[in-house]
Amino acid sequence: MKILVISTSLRNNSNSDILSDEFTKGAMSSGHEVEKISLRGKKINFCIGCDICQTAKRCVLKDDVNEVIQKIHDSDVIAFAIPVYFGGVSGQVQTLFDRTYSLFPWKLKVEQTHKFRGVYLLTTSSDQSTESTDLVIQKVEYWIKHFNGTWVKCSEVAKLAGVVRGLGVHEAGEIRKFPDVLNQAFKMGKAI
Ligand SMILES: Cc1cc2nc3c(=O)[nH]c(=O)nc-3n(C[C@H](O)[C@H](O)[C@H](O)COP(=O)(O)O)c2cc1C
Repeated sequence: MKILVISTSLRNNSNSDILSDEFTKGAMSSGHEVEKISLRGKKINFCIGCDICQTAKRCVLKDDVNEVIQKIHDSDVIAFAIPVYFGGVSGQVQTLFDRTYSLFPWKLKVEQTHKFRGVYLLTTSSDQSTESTDLVIQKVEYWIKHFNGTWVKCSEVAKLAGVVRGLGVHEAGEIRKFPDVLNQAFKMGKAI
């Protein structure tokens, strides 16, 4: 399968990025075609709500996001690495999700063409409680829901297929002190 791993933290030696590397290694060890990309260094403009994508089926903004959206469109499996920011997702993740609006041309009433069915989440937080990651999970589930016929017809259903939480990690790279969590990420990728 064609697997796209999207690492969203912008910091060096990011905990969630390290988890995404483990996930990538696991998925590759099972023979999948895996591409990992990072939002770090990418030019990401806010969605301006012009709605042109709803009829044009593409975003009119000119930056690095359109290539990411095309990769999401073309992949069988998507994995997001997302740290918790203020209880939820960071601004760049929200913006990426906003920009994927171009994948839902609901005004055209066409069947969706995206391929992905499985979505995986690797999330990290300073807080040690599992609840600290709840809003990130809900956000990703809500995003997936829109690929499942909320706005447009869709023959197949996508779902959140797995989550790994790196809890109680604040400093960059701290996740390396938790080999069991790294292993969970590796195994989740391998099991696809
Ligand atoms: C702006 C900002 C907001 C944050 N908000 C939270 C939060 O609400 N809850 C929490 O547990 N950790 C919070 N953190 C800590 C990060 O989730 C934590 O450091 C995580 O390991 C970062 O992952 P990364 O290294 O992949 O960026 C925040 C960090 C930043 C920079």
